[in-house]
Amino acid sequence: MTLKGRDIINIGDLELDEIELILDISKEMLPVARGEKRSRTLDGKVLASLFFEASTRTRLSFETAMHRLGGNVITITGQEGSSLIKGETLADTIRMADAYSDIIALRHPREGAARMSATFSSAPVINGGDGAGQHPTQTLLDLFTIREELGDIGKQNVTIVGDLRYGRTVHSLSLALGRMGATMTFVAPDMIQMPDHIISDLKGMGAKVKRTTDLKAEIPASDVIYMTRIQKERFAEEEEYRKVAGAYKLQVRMLDDAKKHMMIMHPLPRVDEIHPEIDSTRHAKYFAQAFNGVPVRMALLKLILEGE
Ligand code: CP
Repeated sequence: MTLKGRDIINIGDLELDEIELILDISKEMLPVARGEKRSRTLDGKVLASLFFEASTRTRLSFETAMHRLGGNVITITGQEGSSLIKGETLADTIRMADAYSDIIALRHPREGAARMSATFSSAPVINGGDGAGQHPTQTLLDLFTIREELGDIGKQNVTIVGDLRYGRTVHSLSLALGRMGATMTFVAPDMIQMPDHIISDLKGMGAKVKRTTDLKAEIPASDVIYMTRIQKERFAEEEEYRKVAGAYKLQVRMLDDAKKHMMIMHPLPRVDEIHPEIDSTRHAKYFAQAFNGVPVRMALLKLILEGE
């Protein structure tokens, strides 16, 4: 099946061979993403970049990706930067973006907003994060980073740490890793552990998963430690947030028993869950991971707008 014209809302929308194709094309995009080569592949095409919730990496890397491929970008940042603030519906906003552009990248605080938006747009919609739902392009760049650094994704032992209840990146990522055969350990306080419905989906696909609260015990066996921020903005009560804030803080001295090749990832932004001293260790891969958002989103824009 071709990716041309498709919406990307949920990582489950993509077959494994389509994910492999996106990762292969991402690799080809690296020299253009780094500015070493020029491309006019998407000359004349317009990306509508609609970010109704805060973003640094996803918005900037989508927009960089479009510019690097010779396309153009129109953008809305924040609900207050659009007529949503006057009471216009999201559906009408999407209809307008559809009329003005060839493809839409959307971030919205409400889970399900991207799926709903796609029904009002003939232009393809890419979900750039919908509330506590999914963040499929983050997953693609996470997979690309693991494959670039360690090779076969299915052979890795991945420890996923932090806010697994509200963290949309880890919902998409764990479902993809499960399909690829990776082993996963979910480390979180009980209150923000990986939701049962995701564990059930993972077990249904035969994935090797377990839940624990003990990060230290998992470090020696991990090939990847994927840290996440506690999503303060998604807690109904600040009091509940305070019970789990600062639950896991990775420090250099905790890495003595880590495998030499073990890589630390984080979708960013970080708050206090990775000490800055770790940035200069061989394990720190989170800034390279964030850069990979450019080639991966270039690959996706090219495949959706032009095909292979
Ligand atoms: N990883 C990620 O989604 O970062 P932003 O919120 O800055 O886009």
